[in-house]
Amino acid sequence: TWTMVNIVDEQVERIREQVGGKRAICGLSGGVDSAVAGALVQRAIGDQLTCVFVDHGLLRKGEAEQVEKDFVAATGARLKVVDAQERFLSALAGVTDPEEKRKIIGREFIRVFEQAAREVVADGGAVGEEVEFLVQGTLYPDVVESGGGTGTANIKSHHNVGGLPDDLAFTLVEPLRELFKDEVRRVGEELGLPAEMVWRQPFPGPGLGIRIIGEVTRERLDVLREADAIAREELSRAGLDRDIWQCPVVLLADVRSVGVQGDGRTYGHPVVLRPVSSEDAMTADWTRLPYDVLAVISNRITNEVREINRVTLDVTSKPPGTIEWE
Ligand code: XMP
Repeated sequence: TWTMVNIVDEQVERIREQVGGKRAICGLSGGVDSAVAGALVQRAIGDQLTCVFVDHGLLRKGEAEQVEKDFVAATGARLKVVDAQERFLSALAGVTDPEEKRKIIGREFIRVFEQAAREVVADGGAVGEEVEFLVQGTLYPDVVESGGGTGTANIKSHHNVGGLPDDLAFTLVEPLRELFKDEVRRVGEELGLPAEMVWRQPFPGPGLGIRIIGEVTRERLDVLREADAIAREELSRAGLDRDIWQCPVVLLADVRSVGVQGDGRTYGHPVVLRPVSSEDAMTADWTRLPYDVLAVISNRITNEVREINRVTLDVTSKPPGTIEWE
């Protein structure tokens, strides 16, 4: 629309003014905000920008490919991919406490990102002078929540990219600071990002790591990824994407129950569907999904994911429950 074109043009102008001939890096998380921020800055300064994508192995099905292929195809951005799956899995081995998981994932993320940032800074191949800027997908609600300070010092604000050491100090570029989520999505569409990328559900930084109740292992991640993909596919097919805020699928990896599947008795794991409606994730109500849609999701998950023999529904609002289970 006309307004979105205006926002894009205005931001492109501002980014060019701020960055000048210098270089910038942008960490892509797989989420909407960093993708739109990256695309906007790419539009403004082209190959002066390098995007960095840390694949921690905790993403949803197809998400890493979406960043590596679709995002690059849509924007033409220079992208550095770091495959850190092994590193995250080893760091998480044996850990079951939710806060511990979050701490480990956050800490490893910063280390890997920091290393990648150093490599980008050292890389002479990029267009422009030294790297001085870091792009962040901070939205207006984040700005309000954190007291409204402007980003001029080191990386701080986002819990996805915590604090980098002083010798890696950047000036922040935050082109989404004045926008709400739905505006960010429309800017993303205006920039030509694929609809599946722009309209996908919010997803926590620690990813599937906090949707496996119990230890995080590669096998469990694979199981959860399949179940989650089925739920998302059926919710989209039913046209419900814009009615729900998000629908985490949670794997109760340490719980087993008896079932009968195919040719006999099974002793598998349950998953929990957690569909919620919300304006801002501060409060939420459980979404009254149509029974038919729930039935299809349940049938498909138990038929297609061998390890899962039971699908349950979380009917708790927030408060008292949080949206995520960990
Ligand atoms: P809760 O579970 O607190 O979640 O009701 C509220 C919203 O925040 C997301 N969430 C996170 N996002 N890093 C993030 O970037 C996190 O550590 C994190 N924890 C929860 C959650 O998906 C929901 O949208």
